[in-house]
Amino acid sequence: MKAAKESSVQYRLYHPADFEQLYAIEEACFDSTLRFDRCYMKQLTERASSATWTAEIDGRLAGFVIVEWTRMLRGIVAYIQTIEVDPVFRRRGIARELLRRAEESAREARATYIWLHVDESNAAAIALYQSRGYEHHGHHEHYYENGHNAEIYARALTGA
Ligand SMILES: CC(C)(COP(=O)(O)OP(=O)(O)OC[C@H]1O[C@@H](n2cnc3c(N)ncnc32)[C@H](O)[C@@H]1OP(=O)(O)O)[C@@H](O)C(=O)NCCC(=O)NCCS
Repeated sequence: MKAAKESSVQYRLYHPADFEQLYAIEEACFDSTLRFDRCYMKQLTERASSATWTAEIDGRLAGFVIVEWTRMLRGIVAYIQTIEVDPVFRRRGIARELLRRAEESAREARATYIWLHVDESNAAAIALYQSRGYEHHGHHEHYYENGHNAEIYARALTGA
């Protein structure tokens, strides 16, 4: 019997035409109290100092990451707005590759540091960030709409 052919993942930058699929992933990942609303999500993908990377499998969006960067007193700092993978396509290394690409875009924008918030109970995301070299840099009480606390993770953008 022939083995089923494994579909490959295509990584590319976001196009506005991806928005409905991108937002469907947001809806699959977060309940309504925690979701970015459609308008805000659209704005995030359109900001000049940002990059949205997508992962596509057989023409279907499987995940995305949005990174943005800002000039601060001590240089350019990047921030991961969100990273999300459709539940159907998890644990295949997609988020890790999206994160690597987001870091690369931030580096190209001359960011030297990248940081993010993550729900303290989100063990999967925390393990992902730690696997990419992020370290714990703080805690934000009641950061999320549901009252959950956030942890802050960050890393320098000097290494790979
Ligand atoms: C967090 C999330 C993006 C991970 O996506 P993913 O594509 O499944 O992650 P990857 O397959 O790239 O995993 C990379 C590493 O992260 C860690 N990881 C990912 N999911 C994990 C889980 N469920 N449990 C434990 N570790 C996990 C592992 O270290 C994994 O490496 P390994 O598979 O070699 O052990 C995904 O679970 C998701 O979309 N969650 C909902 C949205 C969300 O919470 N986003 C984070 C916002 S801060």
